Amino acid sequence: VLINKAETPAGVCPFAHGAMAPATTDPHGCPVSSGAEAFDPFDSAYQADPAEVLRWSRDDEPVFFSPKLGYWVVTRYDDVKAVFRDNTVFSPANALEKITPSSSEAESILKKYNYGMARTLVNEDEPAHLERRRALMFSFAPEELLHHEPMVRRLTREYVNRFVNEGKADLVNEMLWEIPLTVALHFLGVPEEDMGTLREYSIAHTVNTWGRPTPEQQLKVADSVGKFWNYAGKVLEKMRDDPSGHGWMKYAIRRQKELPEVITDSYLHSMMMAGIVAAHETTAHATANALRLLLENRSTWDRICQDASLIPQAVEECLRHSGSIVAWRRVALEDTEVGGVKIPKGGKLLIANASANHDERYFEDPDSIDIFRDNASEHLSFGYGSHQCLGKNLARMEMCIFLEELTKRLPHMRLSDNQDFKYLPNIAFRGPENLFVEWDVSLNPEKTAPEILETSQAIKIGAPSKEAVFREVVIDQIRHEADNVIGITLKNQDGSDFPKWSPGAHIDLMVGEFTRKYSLCGYNDTPNTLDVAVLREENGRGGSRYIHDTLKQGDTLKIKGPKNNFRLDEKAERYILIAGGIGITPILTMADRLAGLGKDYCIHYAGSTRSSMAFLNRLEQDHAGRCELYPKSEDRRADLKTLVSAADATTRIYVCGPDRMIETLEELCEHLPEDVLHFEHFAAKTESYDTSQDKAFELVLANSGMVVTVEPGQTALNALKAAGVEVESDCEEGLCGNCEVEVLEGEIDHRDNVLARSEKSENKRMVTCCSRAKTHSVKVAL
Ligand code: HEM
Ligand code: FES
Repeated sequence: VLINKAETPAGVCPFAHGAMAPATTDPHGCPVSSGAEAFDPFDSAYQADPAEVLRWSRDDEPVFFSPKLGYWVVTRYDDVKAVFRDNTVFSPANALEKITPSSSEAESILKKYNYGMARTLVNEDEPAHLERRRALMFSFAPEELLHHEPMVRRLTREYVNRFVNEGKADLVNEMLWEIPLTVALHFLGVPEEDMGTLREYSIAHTVNTWGRPTPEQQLKVADSVGKFWNYAGKVLEKMRDDPSGHGWMKYAIRRQKELPEVITDSYLHSMMMAGIVAAHETTAHATANALRLLLENRSTWDRICQDASLIPQAVEECLRHSGSIVAWRRVALEDTEVGGVKIPKGGKLLIANASANHDERYFEDPDSIDIFRDNASEHLSFGYGSHQCLGKNLARMEMCIFLEELTKRLPHMRLSDNQDFKYLPNIAFRGPENLFVEWDVSLNPEKTAPEILETSQAIKIGAPSKEAVFREVVIDQIRHEADNVIGITLKNQDGSDFPKWSPGAHIDLMVGEFTRKYSLCGYNDTPNTLDVAVLREENGRGGSRYIHDTLKQGDTLKIKGPKNNFRLDEKAERYILIAGGIGITPILTMADRLAGLGKDYCIHYAGSTRSSMAFLNRLEQDHAGRCELYPKSEDRRADLKTLVSAADATTRIYVCGPDRMIETLEELCEHLPEDVLHFEHFAAKTESYDTSQDKAFELVLANSGMVVTVEPGQTALNALKAAGVEVESDCEEGLCGNCEVEVLEGEIDHRDNVLARSEKSENKRMVTCCSRAKTHSVKVAL
C-alpha cells in the first residue's frame, strides 16, 4: 500500500507487513482494505456526498487507516462522539494543521508577512483551553446573541429586496456569503470592511488549512493568507484604542486586562483571524446546504412555508443531514483504541461527523429529512464535548431568520434545473459554490399581502427543546389483540407517510402526563400507518391503564420517533428470537424481516395463557414451522439453557421480555462473544457515579432568595429549569462547562470533567448538570 510518508503519524504504514493473518488480498499481508486504500476526501464523489461514500466503512470497517491521508478515519456515531468527548486522550492540536504541507516557497511568502497563527480555542489543549473558553464565553450568552437579531433580520430583508422581483438568484453569491460575513464581523466587533477581499482571504485560509492546492495555487494562497493575517492584526490594533461596546474581540481585549496570562497578544491575533472563518463560512455553507435539501424535499419545504414555527426544527434536521463541517481532526496523545481498533500514540484521526450523522445505528432512516425527528439536535455537526462550537446558537439564529424570510417571501421558489453543485475540494468545509433558484414573480405573496413583510417569529436562542419536537397523529383503529392487550393503529392527520423504520424500532406515546415507549409491531411496508400493542399493566405507573381506559378511535395523540435502540444485525447466519409476553412486539418485526431476507431463524415465545399471547394468528400465518409457543398454563416452559447451547459466534440471539428472562440469558451467554446476545433495553445512559446514595439538597439563589430543592435522581440543572430559572446547558454530562454557576456558600460533590482539580477544591463553581452538594444547602450566584 502506498503511504504518504510525510503525513503518516509514525511516517510509515502502521501495520507490520507480512505479519498479518491472510485475511487480506494484499500479497504483502497489509491489512489496509481496498475501501481504505481507495478513500480520498478530495475526490468529487466524497465532496458531493461524504456520508454516502463512507457507508461501506460504517457497515464493515468503522475505523480504518487511510494511506492516502495518513489518518485514521472514524465513521460511526458512537465512535465519533467518543473521540470528541475524550479531550485528554484525543487532542485537537492538529485541527488547524495544513493537511497538505506547504512548499518552501509558500512558507517563505508566509514568513514575509510574519504569519504566526498559533493556538486558538479550537486547537488548544487542556487545561488552557477551558480556562480561555470560560473566560470568553460571555459573548455567546443568549441575551448577548439577541443583540445581533435585529441586524440579521434587517440584512436578510435588504438582500432579499434586491432580488425578490428578479425571478431568479444565486442565493450563495447574492445573499448567503455576505450576510454571515457581515454578522461575523459584527459579532467580533470589527467594522464592516471590503467584503470581496475578505471572501478571497477566507477561501484562501480554507484551502491553506484543509485543501489540496497545487504548487502554483499554494503561492497565491500563501499571499492571501499572509494578507489576511496582517489585516487581522491591524483591525485588532485599531480596536485596542477603544474596546468598549459589543463584540467578542472587544470583550476579549477587556478581559485581557484582567487575565493577561490567559488571553495573550498572540492568542488575540490568531483568534481574530480564526474567528472570522469560524463564524462565516460555516454558516454560509450550512444555510446553502439546508436550502438545497429543503427545496429537493418539496413537501418539507411546503410544510415550513405553511407553519414557520417548524423552522427551528427544520434547521436542526438540516444541520444533521447536511452540516457544513463534514469532518474534524484530533491526534492521539497515547496508545489507545477507538471502536476496538488500536490507534498508536501520535496517530492522527479524521473524525467524520457527516458520516456519524447518517449512522442508522443512531438515527432512524438517516438519509431522509424528517423535521419531526426529536433527536436531530444530537447531531455532531458542531462537534461535541469541551470544544463544541461556541457559535452554534448564533449560526442557528441566522439560519432560522434566513429560512423564515425566504419561506415567507418566496414560498414558490424552486431549484433551477440542471445545475451542477460544485464544492471546494477540502477535508472539512462543505457547501455548494452556487445555489441557483427561480420563481414566478407574479406569484410573490407580498404583491397581494404586503403586511407579511413586517411579520416575524420570536427567536428562541438554542436548539429546539427535544420535548417540543413531536408528531401529531390520529388514532385510526383500536382493536383487541389478546387478553389485556390492545392494538393501536396511528396515522398522520393528512394521511402522509411516516419515515421508514427498521425492525426493533419504537415510538414514544405522549398521553396525558405520561410518555411511554412502545415497540412498533405492524408490517413495515405500510408507510402511512404505525402500529403498537399495549398491555394493560395493573401495577404499572399508570400509563398503560390511561391508554386502555381513555383513548378511542379518532383521538389525536402526540408521538415521538420512530427510533431504534434494538437494532437487528442482518449479517449473521442464524437467529434465535425469544419473547416473553408483550415482548413479542419487536420480535415479530424482526422475524418478518428475517423471513424476507430468507434467513435461518426460530422464535420462542413464552406467555401465561394462549389467550393472553398477542399475535398468535400472525405468527401462524407468517412464521409457521419457525415458532415454538410456551404457555405457562399448559405447563410448557422454554428451556433457555438448551436454546443457548445451540448458539455459536455466528448466531444472534434477540430477546425481549421480563428482566428475569434477560438476566438468565445474560448468564447463559457469558461464554459467547459479546455481540451474540441482544436485548431490548430502554435504559438511561450509564452512570459512572454511584447515585444510589444521592440525597436531596437545596440551592439558595442569591439574587432572589429563592430556594430550589434538588431531589435524588434529579440534576441541579433540571431542578433550576423546572423552577423557571434559565441556565444554559449543552452536553448535560459535565463536559462543556455551559451550565456552570458560581458558588457562594456550601460544599460541592464535583462530578464533572470541566473544572480543574484545584478549582474543585476551591468550591467556587458548580457544574449543575451533574454535580451535587455535600452540604444540605448551597448558595449560588443566580
Ligand atoms: C468550534 C462547527 C458556526 C465559533 C467548532 C467546531 C465545529 C464547528 C465542528 C469544532 C468542535 C470540536 O472540536 O468539538 C460549526 C458550524 C457552524 C459554526 C457547522 C455553522 C453552522 C460558528 C459561529 C461561530 C463559531 C457562527 C462564532 C460566532 C466557534 C468557536 C469554536 C468553534 C469559537 C471553538 C470552540 C472551542 O474549541 O472551545 N465549530 N461552527 N462557530 N466554533 Fe463553530
Ligand atoms: Fe455541559 Fe453541564 S457541562 S451542560
